[in-house]
Amino acid sequence: MLKVGSRFFRSVVNSSNNSQILSVQLARFASTTSGYEHILVERKGEKQNVALITLNRPKAFNALCDGLMKEVSNALDSMENDSGIGAIVITGSERAFAAGADIKEMKDRRFEECYSGNFLNHWNRVSSCKKPVIAAVNGYALGGGCELAMMCDIIYAGDKAKFGQPEINLGTIPGAGGTQRLIRSVGKSKAMEMCLTGNQITSEEAEKFGLVSKVFPAAELVDEAIKSAEKIASHSQLIVAMCKEAVNNAYEMSLTEGLHFEKRLFHTTFATNDRKEGMTAFVEKRTPKWTSS
Ligand code: CAA
Repeated sequence: MLKVGSRFFRSVVNSSNNSQILSVQLARFASTTSGYEHILVERKGEKQNVALITLNRPKAFNALCDGLMKEVSNALDSMENDSGIGAIVITGSERAFAAGADIKEMKDRRFEECYSGNFLNHWNRVSSCKKPVIAAVNGYALGGGCELAMMCDIIYAGDKAKFGQPEINLGTIPGAGGTQRLIRSVGKSKAMEMCLTGNQITSEEAEKFGLVSKVFPAAELVDEAIKSAEKIASHSQLIVAMCKEAVNNAYEMSLTEGLHFEKRLFHTTFATNDRKEGMTAFVEKRTPKWTSS
């Protein structure tokens, strides 16, 4: 399953690049990404500092079985600990980003199992990732698929993408943020309409309603997402993480609390080397050298 861990590792090491550190980092990355059954993990971008997770259950429209979501969590754990990765892109196939939680796996679950096992709670790993995560959505993003996209920080869509919360058709309700995050993106009336009818919306509508930030031709989507991730990865990882935390806190706090939190984080940047370096580089008309310190 692992594309990069082997092929990419060989190509970089053979490219005569003698950096021992890079080899060690790559070896570590290769070893941590091997063995996945439901996802592919690759390094992308000119500086190989973007991680691409591709959901890979083509026969089931990338339905999010437990094993797949555990693999996504494990991959995020290693990427978060890898200083060579500055941003992450999650994508699926051209047909489906993900058609939701795995209905076949879920069909016979009982209430007491769901309740005592806190079913789906581990999906939150995606929203708690410290590094920026971009969802690149082609095809269907339904149910848990739409919710997974909304756990990411930015959503880009291909022009044929379809978003929806069809759980109502199955006699259940969204269980991974669909009733909570959707309303914050598209407003109450549209969120309610999507959750209560189960109707899908197009990528064009999703952009108009504010669920996605940009729409690209399907074939260009992943490259565009990687380009944006590279831009993010070119900044200080420390400051990017602080910025992400500040924006995400707007979800959780009142405006007064949020503005106070933002101000304190802004002040905190003045304790970092990267803030000093960024402003000094501007004044000296040169590119900053970030150290994430
Ligand atoms: N879980 C398990 N298997 C799924 C699946 C899912 N969510 N979605 C699709 N599949 C499987 C189908 O069972 C089928 O498998 P078989 O070939 O073994 O029969 C295969 O993928 C192809 O699916 P279809 O034949 O249905 O293909 P289609 O082109 O006619 O339709 C689709 C595609 C619109 C995505 C349709 O499959 C569909 O509506 N899927 C279910 C979407 C859904 O209801 N998602 C919500 C799940 S619940 C949830 O996510 C809860 C939560 O909040 C976390």
